[in-house]
Amino acid sequence: MKPGRLPWLLGCFLIAAAAVGSKVVPRMTFQRGDPGREIGAFSQEGILNYDTFLLSADGETLYVGGRDAILALNITSSPISLKGKIPWSPSPSKRRECVFKKKSNETECFNFIRILVQLNETHLYTCGTCAFSPTCAFIDVENFTLVTDAKGEPLLQEGKGLCPFDPRHQNTALIVGGELYTGTMNNFQGNEPVISRTLGSRTILKTDSFLSWLHDDAAFVASFNVPGPPGEEK
Ligand SMILES: *[C@@H]1O[C@H](CO)[C@@H](O)[C@H](O)[C@H]1NC(C)=O
Ligand SMILES: *[C@@H]1O[C@H](CO)[C@@H](O)[C@H](O)[C@H]1NC(C)=O
Ligand SMILES: *[C@@H]1O[C@H](CO)[C@@H](O)[C@H](O)[C@H]1NC(C)=O
Ligand SMILES: *[C@@H]1O[C@H](CO)[C@@H](O)[C@H](O)[C@H]1NC(C)=O
Repeated sequence: MKPGRLPWLLGCFLIAAAAVGSKVVPRMTFQRGDPGREIGAFSQEGILNYDTFLLSADGETLYVGGRDAILALNITSSPISLKGKIPWSPSPSKRRECVFKKKSNETECFNFIRILVQLNETHLYTCGTCAFSPTCAFIDVENFTLVTDAKGEPLLQEGKGLCPFDPRHQNTALIVGGELYTGTMNNFQGNEPVISRTLGSRTILKTDSFLSWLHDDAAFVASFNVPGPPGEEK
Protein backbone atom coordinates (compact mmCIF):
# COMPACT_ATOMS: atom_id res chain seq x y z
CA MET A 1 0.00 0.00 0.00
CA LYS A 2 1.28 3.46 -0.87
CA PRO A 3 2.18 5.71 2.06
CA GLY A 4 -0.58 8.21 2.74
CA ARG A 5 -3.22 5.80 1.56
CA LEU A 6 -3.97 4.34 4.98
CA PRO A 7 -5.22 7.54 6.69
CA TRP A 8 -7.50 8.15 3.71
CA LEU A 9 -8.90 4.63 3.86
CA LEU A 10 -9.32 4.92 7.59
CA GLY A 11 -11.10 8.24 7.10
CA CYS A 12 -13.57 6.62 4.71
CA PHE A 13 -14.12 3.78 7.09
CA LEU A 14 -14.81 6.13 9.98
CA ILE A 15 -17.27 8.15 7.94
CA ALA A 16 -19.01 4.95 6.85
CA ALA A 17 -19.11 3.77 10.46
CA ALA A 18 -20.59 7.09 11.59
CA ALA A 19 -23.25 6.88 8.87
CA VAL A 20 -24.16 3.33 9.87
CA GLY A 21 -24.01 4.30 13.56
CA SER A 22 -26.71 6.92 13.22
CA LYS A 23 -29.19 4.33 11.86
CA VAL A 24 -28.57 1.74 14.56
CA VAL A 25 -31.63 1.30 16.76
CA PRO A 26 -31.36 -0.75 19.95
CA ARG A 27 -33.47 -3.91 19.85
CA MET A 28 -34.92 -3.09 23.25
CA THR A 29 -35.30 0.23 24.99
CA PHE A 30 -36.49 1.07 28.48
CA GLN A 31 -37.22 4.45 29.95
CA ARG A 32 -35.50 5.27 33.20
CA GLY A 33 -37.83 4.20 36.04
CA ASP A 34 -39.75 1.74 33.82
CA PRO A 35 -41.35 -0.82 36.19
CA GLY A 36 -40.76 -3.55 33.55
CA ARG A 37 -37.04 -3.15 33.92
CA GLU A 38 -35.97 -2.51 37.45
CA ILE A 39 -32.47 -1.07 37.61
CA GLY A 40 -30.60 -1.56 40.84
CA ALA A 41 -28.01 1.04 41.69
CA PHE A 42 -25.23 1.00 44.21
CA SER A 43 -22.73 3.58 45.32
CA GLN A 44 -20.82 4.24 48.45
CA GLU A 45 -19.31 7.42 49.76
CA GLY A 46 -15.56 7.50 49.23
CA ILE A 47 -15.44 4.66 46.70
CA LEU A 48 -14.57 5.74 43.19
CA ASN A 49 -13.63 4.14 39.89
CA TYR A 50 -15.84 1.04 39.84
CA ASP A 51 -13.70 -0.36 37.01
CA THR A 52 -13.59 -4.13 37.29
CA PHE A 53 -16.46 -6.57 37.63
CA LEU A 54 -16.81 -10.28 38.28
CA LEU A 55 -20.07 -12.17 38.67
CA SER A 56 -20.05 -15.22 40.94
CA ALA A 57 -20.91 -18.58 39.34
CA ASP A 58 -24.35 -18.60 41.03
CA GLY A 59 -25.06 -15.11 39.68
CA GLU A 60 -25.91 -13.78 43.15
CA THR A 61 -22.78 -11.85 44.01
CA LEU A 62 -21.11 -9.15 41.98
CA TYR A 63 -17.49 -8.48 42.88
CA VAL A 64 -16.39 -4.97 42.05
CA GLY A 65 -12.88 -3.58 41.90
CA GLY A 66 -12.69 0.13 42.58
CA ARG A 67 -10.07 2.57 43.81
CA ASP A 68 -8.37 1.28 46.96
CA ALA A 69 -11.18 -1.21 47.56
CA ILE A 70 -12.81 -4.45 46.38
CA LEU A 71 -16.49 -4.93 47.11
CA ALA A 72 -18.82 -7.92 47.19
CA LEU A 73 -22.39 -6.92 46.39
CA ASN A 74 -25.52 -9.01 46.86
CA ILE A 75 -27.36 -8.25 43.64
CA THR A 76 -30.38 -10.45 44.42
CA SER A 77 -31.44 -8.25 47.32
CA SER A 78 -33.33 -5.07 46.64
CA PRO A 79 -31.78 -2.61 46.98
CA ILE A 80 -28.37 -4.08 46.14
CA SER A 81 -26.51 -4.60 49.40
CA LEU A 82 -22.88 -4.58 50.41
CA LYS A 83 -21.84 -8.05 51.63
CA GLY A 84 -18.16 -7.46 52.03
CA LYS A 85 -15.43 -4.90 51.49
CA ILE A 86 -11.67 -5.28 51.26
CA PRO A 87 -9.87 -1.98 51.69
CA TRP A 88 -6.57 -2.20 49.78
CA SER A 89 -4.48 0.96 49.49
CA PRO A 90 -0.84 1.32 48.48
CA SER A 91 1.54 1.50 51.43
CA PRO A 92 2.72 5.02 52.42
CA SER A 93 6.18 4.24 50.99
CA LYS A 94 4.67 3.18 47.64
CA ARG A 95 2.69 6.43 47.60
CA ARG A 96 5.81 8.47 48.33
CA GLU A 97 7.71 6.72 45.50
CA CYS A 98 4.79 7.36 43.18
CA VAL A 99 4.72 11.08 44.01
CA PHE A 100 8.51 11.20 43.69
CA LYS A 101 8.12 9.85 40.14
CA LYS A 102 5.98 12.92 39.37
CA LYS A 103 2.64 11.16 39.50
CA SER A 104 -0.35 12.80 41.13
CA ASN A 105 -1.07 12.11 44.79
CA GLU A 106 -4.64 13.27 44.17
CA THR A 107 -5.54 11.24 41.08
CA GLU A 108 -2.95 8.56 40.25
CA CYS A 109 -1.10 7.25 43.30
CA PHE A 110 -3.88 4.88 44.37
CA ASN A 111 -4.55 1.20 43.93
CA PHE A 112 -6.89 0.94 40.95
CA ILE A 113 -8.14 -2.65 40.92
CA ARG A 114 -7.79 -3.97 37.36
CA ILE A 115 -7.93 -7.73 37.63
CA LEU A 116 -10.60 -9.70 39.47
CA VAL A 117 -10.96 -13.33 38.38
CA GLN A 118 -12.29 -16.57 39.85
CA LEU A 119 -9.20 -18.71 40.39
CA ASN A 120 -11.04 -21.72 41.79
CA GLU A 121 -14.07 -22.49 43.97
CA THR A 122 -12.54 -20.97 47.08
CA HIS A 123 -10.35 -18.14 45.83
CA LEU A 124 -10.36 -15.08 43.60
CA TYR A 125 -7.21 -13.53 42.19
CA THR A 126 -6.88 -9.77 42.02
CA CYS A 127 -4.35 -7.19 40.88
CA GLY A 128 -4.21 -3.43 41.14
CA THR A 129 -1.99 -0.61 39.93
CA CYS A 130 -0.89 0.05 43.55
CA ALA A 131 0.56 3.53 42.98
CA PHE A 132 2.39 2.59 39.75
CA SER A 133 3.71 -0.58 41.33
CA PRO A 134 1.31 -3.31 40.14
CA THR A 135 0.57 -5.89 42.81
CA CYS A 136 -1.58 -9.02 43.01
CA ALA A 137 -3.22 -10.95 45.85
CA PHE A 138 -5.53 -13.87 46.57
CA ILE A 139 -9.00 -13.38 48.04
CA ASP A 140 -10.64 -15.97 50.24
CA VAL A 141 -14.24 -16.01 48.99
CA GLU A 142 -15.69 -17.52 52.19
CA ASN A 143 -14.86 -14.57 54.46
CA PHE A 144 -13.95 -12.07 51.70
CA THR A 145 -10.49 -11.11 52.92
CA LEU A 146 -7.05 -11.05 51.32
CA VAL A 147 -5.12 -14.24 52.00
CA THR A 148 -2.43 -13.51 54.57
CA ASP A 149 0.97 -14.98 55.38
CA ALA A 150 2.06 -16.46 58.71
CA LYS A 151 2.52 -12.95 60.16
CA GLY A 152 -1.00 -11.92 59.19
CA GLU A 153 0.21 -9.60 56.42
CA PRO A 154 -1.51 -9.84 53.02
CA LEU A 155 0.30 -12.30 50.78
CA LEU A 156 1.20 -9.96 47.91
CA GLN A 157 2.67 -10.90 44.54
CA GLU A 158 4.47 -8.91 41.87
CA GLY A 159 1.89 -7.71 39.33
CA LYS A 160 4.26 -6.37 36.66
CA GLY A 161 3.31 -7.84 33.29
CA LEU A 162 -0.18 -8.76 34.52
CA CYS A 163 -1.68 -5.41 35.47
CA PRO A 164 -0.89 -1.93 34.15
CA PHE A 165 1.20 0.59 36.11
CA ASP A 166 -0.89 3.47 34.88
CA PRO A 167 -4.65 3.52 35.58
CA ARG A 168 -5.18 5.09 32.15
CA HIS A 169 -4.05 1.94 30.40
CA GLN A 170 -6.49 -0.80 29.48
CA ASN A 171 -5.84 -4.43 30.22
CA THR A 172 -7.55 -7.79 30.01
CA ALA A 173 -7.43 -10.98 32.07
CA LEU A 174 -8.93 -14.44 31.79
CA ILE A 175 -8.71 -17.66 33.79
CA VAL A 176 -8.69 -20.88 31.78
CA GLY A 177 -8.06 -24.17 33.52
CA GLY A 178 -6.59 -22.50 36.60
CA GLU A 179 -4.13 -20.47 34.52
CA LEU A 180 -4.22 -16.70 34.20
CA TYR A 181 -3.91 -15.15 30.74
CA THR A 182 -3.36 -11.39 30.68
CA GLY A 183 -2.69 -8.57 28.25
CA THR A 184 -1.31 -5.31 29.60
CA MET A 185 1.54 -2.79 29.49
CA ASN A 186 4.67 -4.24 31.03
CA ASN A 187 6.39 -1.02 32.10
CA PHE A 188 6.01 2.30 33.87
CA GLN A 189 6.15 4.31 30.63
CA GLY A 190 3.33 2.21 29.21
CA ASN A 191 4.88 1.50 25.81
CA GLU A 192 5.73 -2.17 26.13
CA PRO A 193 2.66 -4.37 25.67
CA VAL A 194 2.87 -7.93 26.92
CA ILE A 195 0.65 -11.01 26.86
CA SER A 196 1.39 -13.63 29.46
CA ARG A 197 0.29 -16.89 31.02
CA THR A 198 0.87 -17.32 34.74
CA LEU A 199 -0.40 -19.15 37.84
CA GLY A 200 -1.20 -22.84 37.41
CA SER A 201 1.61 -25.37 37.36
CA ARG A 202 3.12 -24.78 33.91
CA THR A 203 6.04 -22.46 33.17
CA ILE A 204 5.25 -18.78 32.89
CA LEU A 205 4.95 -17.63 29.27
CA LYS A 206 5.39 -14.05 28.06
CA THR A 207 5.53 -12.41 24.67
CA ASP A 208 9.00 -11.16 23.83
CA SER A 209 9.07 -7.39 23.31
CA PHE A 210 12.13 -7.72 21.01
CA LEU A 211 9.99 -9.46 18.42
CA SER A 212 7.65 -6.45 18.65
CA TRP A 213 4.67 -8.11 17.02
CA LEU A 214 2.55 -6.10 19.42
CA HIS A 215 2.43 -2.42 18.52
CA ASP A 216 3.80 -0.03 21.19
CA ASP A 217 0.43 1.61 21.69
CA ALA A 218 -1.65 -1.58 21.68
CA ALA A 219 -4.79 -1.33 23.83
CA PHE A 220 -6.14 -4.52 25.35
CA VAL A 221 -9.91 -4.60 25.37
CA ALA A 222 -11.07 -8.18 25.96
CA SER A 223 -10.05 -11.84 25.90
CA PHE A 224 -11.91 -15.07 25.20
CA ASN A 225 -11.21 -18.74 25.47
CA VAL A 226 -11.71 -20.57 22.19
CA PRO A 227 -11.97 -24.18 23.32
CA GLY A 228 -9.99 -26.57 21.14
CA PRO A 229 -10.10 -30.36 21.02
CA PRO A 230 -9.47 -31.91 24.45
CA GLY A 231 -5.81 -32.01 25.41
CA GLU A 232 -4.78 -29.40 22.88
CA GLU A 233 -2.52 -26.58 24.11
CA LYS A 234 -4.30 -23.32 24.68
C1 LIG B 1 -28.82 -11.69 49.27
O1 LIG B 1 -29.86 -11.04 49.96
C2 LIG B 1 -31.05 -11.81 50.04
C3 LIG B 1 -32.14 -10.91 50.62
O2 LIG B 1 -31.67 -10.19 51.72
C4 LIG B 1 -30.77 -13.06 50.88
O3 LIG B 1 -31.94 -13.85 50.99
C5 LIG B 1 -29.68 -13.87 50.20
O4 LIG B 1 -29.32 -14.98 51.00
C6 LIG B 1 -28.45 -13.00 49.95
N1 LIG B 1 -27.54 -13.74 49.10
C7 LIG B 1 -26.23 -13.77 49.28
C8 LIG B 1 -25.46 -14.56 48.27
O5 LIG B 1 -25.69 -13.18 50.19
C1 LIG C 1 -0.73 12.13 49.67
O1 LIG C 1 -2.00 12.50 50.18
C2 LIG C 1 -2.31 11.94 51.45
C3 LIG C 1 -3.70 12.40 51.84
O2 LIG C 1 -4.61 12.00 50.90
C4 LIG C 1 -1.29 12.39 52.49
O3 LIG C 1 -1.55 11.75 53.71
C5 LIG C 1 0.09 11.98 52.01
O4 LIG C 1 1.06 12.51 52.92
C6 LIG C 1 0.38 12.54 50.63
N1 LIG C 1 1.65 11.99 50.18
C7 LIG C 1 2.59 12.71 49.59
C8 LIG C 1 3.85 12.00 49.26
O5 LIG C 1 2.43 13.89 49.29
C1 LIG D 1 -7.58 -22.34 45.20
O1 LIG D 1 -6.39 -21.60 45.03
C2 LIG D 1 -5.76 -21.22 46.25
C3 LIG D 1 -4.59 -20.34 45.90
O2 LIG D 1 -3.72 -20.93 44.98
C4 LIG D 1 -5.34 -22.46 47.02
O3 LIG D 1 -4.74 -22.08 48.24
C5 LIG D 1 -6.58 -23.31 47.29
O4 LIG D 1 -6.21 -24.49 47.92
C6 LIG D 1 -7.30 -23.63 45.99
N1 LIG D 1 -8.57 -24.26 46.31
C7 LIG D 1 -9.03 -25.31 45.65
C8 LIG D 1 -10.38 -25.82 46.06
O5 LIG D 1 -8.40 -25.84 44.75
C1 LIG E 1 -10.67 -16.57 56.28
O1 LIG E 1 -10.82 -17.96 56.07
C2 LIG E 1 -9.61 -18.68 55.91
C3 LIG E 1 -9.93 -20.14 55.67
O2 LIG E 1 -11.03 -20.31 54.85
C4 LIG E 1 -8.73 -18.52 57.14
O3 LIG E 1 -7.50 -19.14 56.91
C5 LIG E 1 -8.50 -17.04 57.40
O4 LIG E 1 -7.78 -16.88 58.61
C6 LIG E 1 -9.82 -16.30 57.52
N1 LIG E 1 -9.53 -14.88 57.63
C7 LIG E 1 -10.17 -14.11 58.51
C8 LIG E 1 -9.76 -12.68 58.53
O5 LIG E 1 -11.03 -14.53 59.25
